[in-house]
Amino acid sequence: MITIKSVHDIECMKAAGKIVEDTLLLLERSVRIGITTGELNAIAEDYIRSQGAYPTCLNYNGFPKAICISVNEVVVHGIPGPRKIKDGDIVSCDVCATLNGFVGDAARTFCVGNVAEETRRLVQVTKECFFEGIRYARPGYRVCDISKAIQEYAESHGYGVVRELTGHGVGRQLHEDPEVPNFYSPRARQRLQAGMTIAVEPMITQGKKEVWQLDDGWTITTRDGKPAAHYENSIAITDGKPILLTCSEEY
Ligand code: MF3
Ligand code: CO
Repeated sequence: MITIKSVHDIECMKAAGKIVEDTLLLLERSVRIGITTGELNAIAEDYIRSQGAYPTCLNYNGFPKAICISVNEVVVHGIPGPRKIKDGDIVSCDVCATLNGFVGDAARTFCVGNVAEETRRLVQVTKECFFEGIRYARPGYRVCDISKAIQEYAESHGYGVVRELTGHGVGRQLHEDPEVPNFYSPRARQRLQAGMTIAVEPMITQGKKEVWQLDDGWTITTRDGKPAAHYENSIAITDGKPILLTCSEEY
């Protein structure tokens, strides 16, 4: 069931979203060669809690850390730990925070040091996929119009679109209806309506689209070992352009 948010609900989601955005900006300033993903997790967790929010990922379906950190061939749901960031790594950070009963969810991929030009391009195009998709995030379109725009843009650059994971509704819960695939799916026929809040999150691979899950039950990596990037914002559908709840950038 898709829930429609009130104006007040959306104000609450903006407040949660601001904490998520600020956490990602802090992570961007903190990520450097030699830091461990566990240290980045601690920086994020401390900041989220300092703002009176809760790191939604912690214990979510048993996830053991406050945020997800996914390096290079890890697509999403990487578990922070002793892995040290190396020169040339791309580091995807996926942050969720709950404030006053509402969730914000966003992800960015950061380039550290001397990243290969073709991988920088992957990171840039993954962000552009999000903005291509949300051109259709308005009443009058369907969820699958967002999906199709993301897929076409990614594939036109020769990249792979992960099928196993999707965006989603977001609100009082981290994962609500509808599913928001990054590829055309006839199941995603729901019409967009003002007051819907969704997380749009392209997960794009430099090589083939196939992924698998490691034995830890969480980490998703590309099968071919090539890099993948992730870019996500929570957004609110309005009668005009969507509101970006986790991003202050003009677009
Ligand atoms: N931000 C992720 C998403 O969009 C949440 C990861 S779920 C967790 O689905 F359990 F790994 F935290
Ligand atoms: Co999400």
